[in-house]
Amino acid sequence: MRITILVDNYATQLTSLSKRLLSEWGFAAYIHDYRILYDTGLSGAALINNMKALGIDYDEPNYLVISHRHIDHTGGVKRFLEARSRPITMIAHTNLFTKAYAKDERGNLEDISVDFTPEYLREKGVNLILIREPYKITGDVVVSGEIPRKWGPPHLGAVTDEILDDMALYIKHRNGLIAITGCGHAGVENIIEYGLQITGLDRLYAVIGGLHFLGLGDDRVRQVVKYLVEKSPDIVVGSHCTGILGMAALRDALPNAFRLGGVGVSIEL
Ligand SMILES: [Fe+2]
Ligand SMILES: [Fe+2]
Repeated sequence: MRITILVDNYATQLTSLSKRLLSEWGFAAYIHDYRILYDTGLSGAALINNMKALGIDYDEPNYLVISHRHIDHTGGVKRFLEARSRPITMIAHTNLFTKAYAKDERGNLEDISVDFTPEYLREKGVNLILIREPYKITGDVVVSGEIPRKWGPPHLGAVTDEILDDMALYIKHRNGLIAITGCGHAGVENIIEYGLQITGLDRLYAVIGGLHFLGLGDDRVRQVVKYLVEKSPDIVVGSHCTGILGMAALRDALPNAFRLGGVGVSIEL
């Protein structure tokens, strides 16, 4: 199966140049085999441009899964829906429309909530499914629902609430669990342990997405990296809020498993 990163903070490979891909602060990934778009990036401009450049038809996805309500994951929803000619099923947490804030470098409170309303989604014919419990898209693909935080601390960075809406996408693969995460606010141990628990798998195969090492102290970064080394996944793709230093730490500790994320990066699993 194949997963392509459509929006990321970074452009990391030469095809981003030849295909004129755009990067922006945010995340979106496409799970081709299951026709699932996971997140939409910040503005929609990168998502729309990159889907077209990579030859993915806007009408191809059957599902839009929202990792959490922050605008760097939900900001492309409107442009994506407007580019389509058929309705879509959208799966998000029940907190989707709750206001969200983060403090910037100067201590100012920034509104990072979604920029659409339930009425807007209804007008667009969206089949909106709001969840807190795990939701099976197919037998092999589960949206986590709210992730319990009993195995490790959350990664909240500069945000002002617990972001209980942070949801991963879990895929059962013959080699083990694939965990796809948007910002990873729920915390790496929680995301992976809960995924293993609800899928019944005993092995982590791959973790892909934002792990939110941004804003973490060095001790905590070492702790997470140690945890991941013990889990010995085959593939770790750090992108978005994993941050440059977080990616460097993962690359050092897991040289064979680690791969850079970045717009247009496609991972065969
Ligand atoms: Fe994010
Ligand atoms: Fe976030």
